[in-house]
Amino acid sequence: MKFEQRATQNPIDRGRVVGLPLDRIDGPAKVSGAARYAYEHHQAAPNAAYGWILGASIPKGRIATIDTSEAESAEGVLAVITHKNSGALGKGEKNTATLLGGPKIEHYHQAVACVVAETLEQARDAAHLIRIRYTAEKGRYDLAEQKEQAAEPPPIQGKMPADTAVGDFAASFANAPVKIDHTYTTPDQSHMPMEPFATTAAWSGDKLTLWTANQMVAWGVKDLALTLKIKPENIRLMSPYVGGGFGSKLFLRADAVLAALGAKAAGRPVKVAMARDLMANNSVHRPATIQRIRIGADREGKISAIGHEVWSGNLQGGAPEAAALQTRLLYAGDHRMTSHRLAVLDLPEGNAMRAPGEAVGMLALEVAMDELAEQLRMDPIELRLRNDIQHNPETGEENPYSTRQLVECLREGATRFGWDRRSAQTGARRDGQWLIGMGVAAAFRNSPVMKSAAKVSVDMMGRVTVHTDMTDIGTGSYTIIAQTAAEMLGVPIDRVTVKLGDSTFPVSAGSGGQWGANSSTSGVYAACMALREKLTQNAGFNAQDDIVFEDGQIKSSGRSVSLAKAAGPKGAEAEDAIEFGEINKKFVQAAFGAHFVEAAVEAYTGEIRVRRMLGVFAAGRVLNPKTARSQMIGAMTMGVGAALMEELVVDTQQGFFANHDLAEYAVPVSADIPDQDVVFLDEIDDTSSPMKAKGLGELGICGAGAAISNAVYNATGIRIRDYPLTIDKLI
Ligand code: MOS
Repeated sequence: MKFEQRATQNPIDRGRVVGLPLDRIDGPAKVSGAARYAYEHHQAAPNAAYGWILGASIPKGRIATIDTSEAESAEGVLAVITHKNSGALGKGEKNTATLLGGPKIEHYHQAVACVVAETLEQARDAAHLIRIRYTAEKGRYDLAEQKEQAAEPPPIQGKMPADTAVGDFAASFANAPVKIDHTYTTPDQSHMPMEPFATTAAWSGDKLTLWTANQMVAWGVKDLALTLKIKPENIRLMSPYVGGGFGSKLFLRADAVLAALGAKAAGRPVKVAMARDLMANNSVHRPATIQRIRIGADREGKISAIGHEVWSGNLQGGAPEAAALQTRLLYAGDHRMTSHRLAVLDLPEGNAMRAPGEAVGMLALEVAMDELAEQLRMDPIELRLRNDIQHNPETGEENPYSTRQLVECLREGATRFGWDRRSAQTGARRDGQWLIGMGVAAAFRNSPVMKSAAKVSVDMMGRVTVHTDMTDIGTGSYTIIAQTAAEMLGVPIDRVTVKLGDSTFPVSAGSGGQWGANSSTSGVYAACMALREKLTQNAGFNAQDDIVFEDGQIKSSGRSVSLAKAAGPKGAEAEDAIEFGEINKKFVQAAFGAHFVEAAVEAYTGEIRVRRMLGVFAAGRVLNPKTARSQMIGAMTMGVGAALMEELVVDTQQGFFANHDLAEYAVPVSADIPDQDVVFLDEIDDTSSPMKAKGLGELGICGAGAAISNAVYNATGIRIRDYPLTIDKLI
């Protein structure tokens, strides 16, 4: 099914199942331990041996010699995989660094060996018996130092220019009566999912089966085939449950490659889970940024010039952190410029993490707006209202937003949060020894869509089953897909079984870039439409008739036939995909929101506490308000992390991230946010998909940290432009 025109009235609009705040249907399996994660397929892959990954102990250089003989003769060891015996490996399209290093070493903790043994302990012990001599080379690890060498990168995601310019930014900024010019920095950050990278691999002849933690099943198959130089049709990749991804599991990682190589060498199934202390340096992270923002406005706060320059670093061939993308779109202003510059760094690979680009871009832009409001002596909400725009400010009115309720979110939030209690004067509110401040920021994240396929069947009992290779990374995919099928076929949700995360199923959009929910449910919608047609025919109805699927029946003109009967003794099934056409390009499709934060800062110690947090969002049809709310709570919590604690500390001498576990890489916990609320405004976007929904997984992080930063400023009068906001920077 091609989605090319505005969606008209359709079965989803009835909202009998879609739109209800239902519990996750996969919840009981998860909390009872019945849901099997990648490392837990004991029955399907019996007698599995254990792999242990050894990471390089230098950041850059070469392996001069590697001696595995002692490790190989250690008790229980079945195989030791290194570049010496792995055969020539290829590289996945989406990988920057090689997943098994050697002799060349591209970054610290790059995998250089995998020991396979009868037990985990034997594998781990033997890994320490591998003798490696390295020839180290001098590397570059400091973004600030390399900033001047940064160059223009290729188009972002292959399609967006690194730089944009509209009008005459320089002249307009120079002449603006009110202006700000500030530089903000954000640190390297780590995804830190609870479940590490983990894979169980088993071979049968030349057929490889993997259970692995992966957000994008089809990408995983393709890149593993390229890496191992085998046919993709010989790989079956399964990822039915994922214990957190946040972008780290979008792409093939070392665990999958080494489990496959290890299983081949050992002649039996092998499972590999990456040790926690390898997670930060072996894999991917969000790169640090330096961001200069200049905004010029007239005295009424109307923006005339807006400029955002971003510097970030990555390995050779890697991509920039695209932090200026939101600035291209969010506010009005006739004269504009954005640019991205990329320095080569020899740190581990930088890649997508929790709204890549957008999240850190908004950390800077939404503080810059607060700084401009301060200059203007204007309420920061009022400043945003005055610069709202309903079309793409770079390309003009022929590119309108499909829906954009930023103003409504700000207004609704202000009322609910009690914004009128904010003092315009900084440092003016106290509660004992605590200084109290309020901050606001816009939330804004584009809502892309991707082709997505599904197969839906009805059996002779009228039970519905959906198959699609979509993943559920803790987000609620199982539930909203079941809701979609139940709505479309007129059955209660407990009549629907959803099978996800298997490369033998139709290829879905996968979980990434907040495109998953809208795209994958639209794919299910398309398959259900095809199935409805078949069932309608089987039931002897005319396709032109007014037909309703409800209560397990197909009804038309007073006659009804049960779904079971229409399916027949052999059942009925249909497969289709949703594909998105011109309409999705004509409109800017994005989700919006407003973050409100009340923060307290201890007047003598500088300790920062979030007291209250409210997010008001407008993100198309909300498919399940409960799972959507959970998404926003998670995302806003990550915003707290970005503002107050998350930071990979770069050892610029040794060339690695020094804090590499959950003891030293702090993330917020419930007690850090005593009061957190989420509100969705009513919205239907008939240009987005037949579901009329939008993505929202990453929306909640965008702007959240800026609202905290603005609240801290309001409390103290101290502006910190270097994230995270830690005590040492405040006192
Ligand atoms: Mo997301 S950072 O595309 O998982």
